[in-house]
Amino acid sequence: MVHSSWLMVRAPRMLRKHWVCMRQLWYTLPMNHEQSTMNKVIVITGVSRGLGQAMTSGFIKLGHTVLGCARSKASVEQLNSKFGSPNNFTALDVADEAQVKNWAKQLLSQYGAPNLLINNAAIINDLAPLWEIPSEDFSNLVDINIKGVANVIRHFIPAMINRGSGIIVNLSSGWGRSTSPNVSSYCASKWAIEGMTRSLAQELPQGMAAIPLSPGIIHTEMLEVCYGKDAASYTSIQDWQVKAIPFLLQLSPADNGVPLTVPV
Ligand SMILES: NC(=O)c1ccc[n+]([C@@H]2O[C@H](COP(=O)([O-])OP(=O)(O)OC[C@H]3O[C@@H](n4cnc5c(N)ncnc54)[C@H](OP(=O)(O)O)[C@@H]3O)[C@@H](O)[C@H]2O)c1
Repeated sequence: MVHSSWLMVRAPRMLRKHWVCMRQLWYTLPMNHEQSTMNKVIVITGVSRGLGQAMTSGFIKLGHTVLGCARSKASVEQLNSKFGSPNNFTALDVADEAQVKNWAKQLLSQYGAPNLLINNAAIINDLAPLWEIPSEDFSNLVDINIKGVANVIRHFIPAMINRGSGIIVNLSSGWGRSTSPNVSSYCASKWAIEGMTRSLAQELPQGMAAIPLSPGIIHTEMLEVCYGKDAASYTSIQDWQVKAIPFLLQLSPADNGVPLTVPV
C-alpha cells in the first residue's frame, strides 16, 4: 500500500514532471486545425528585420493579422506592400510615447484589442566595458529596451483588460538571466524586462498573461554585433521561425509570470 505522506510529497512533483513532458511534446507537434485557422490579431514591435520580421511572416502565413512597427520607413513600406490589408505596418520609435499612443489609438479603434502583444523591438550596445559606454548610448538603450516596452504596454493593455483576455510577451534574453562582459547595458535592460514582466503578471486579471520570453540564440543582425562572423554558427532565423510560431500561438493564461524560452 502507498503511504499517504509519500503521496503528498511525491504526487505534485510527478504531476509537474508529467506536465513538463506533455508540454515539450506539444511544442514538437504540427499545429492543429483550430490553432492555424483561428484568426488572432497580433501586435509586434520591431518588424523590420530579424525575429520580428520572422514572426510577422510566420503568423501571416497561418492567416493571423499582424500589426507591426519599426523605425525604418523603407522596411515598413515594403511590409505594407508585401502583406497588405488587414495587416498594418507603421514607422515609429517605441521610445517616443506620443507616437506609441497615436499608434495604439488608431489600431485599437480599427482592430479592437490584440489577442497577442509581442514586445520584440530592442537594441544592443556596441561592445564595451560599462565605464566606456557613453551616457547617451546607455540612456538611448534604456529608452528603447525598457521604457519602449512600458510605453507599448501602457497604451494597449487597458483595452485588453477591458475585454478580459490577451497575452503579452516581452522579449528577454539569456542575458536577462545570466551575464557576460561588454554587454552590461543590454544585460541591465533584459534583467529589467524579466522583473517588469513578472511584476506586471501579478497585476493582471485572470484570463490574461504576461510572459518574459528568451528566444534562444539566433543568427540576426543583433547577434552579429555580439559575435561577429561566429554569429553564423547559431540557429538560423528560418529554423527559429518553425519552432517559435507554434510555441507563441499556444501560450495561455496558465503561463502568466513564467519565464520561458523558445525550444530551439
Ligand atoms: N538574436 C538573438 O539571438 C537574441 C537573443 C536574445 C534576445 N533577443 C531579443 O530578441 C528581440 C529581437 O532581436 P533581433 O535579434 O531580431 O534584433 P535585430 O535584428 O536587431 O532587430 C531588432 C528590431 O527592432 C527594431 N527596433 C529597434 N529599435 C526600435 C525602436 N526604437 N522602435 C521601433 N523598433 C525598433 C528594429 O527596426 P528599426 O531599426 O527599423 O527600428 C528591428 O526590426 C530583441 O528584443 C532582442 O533583445 C535576440
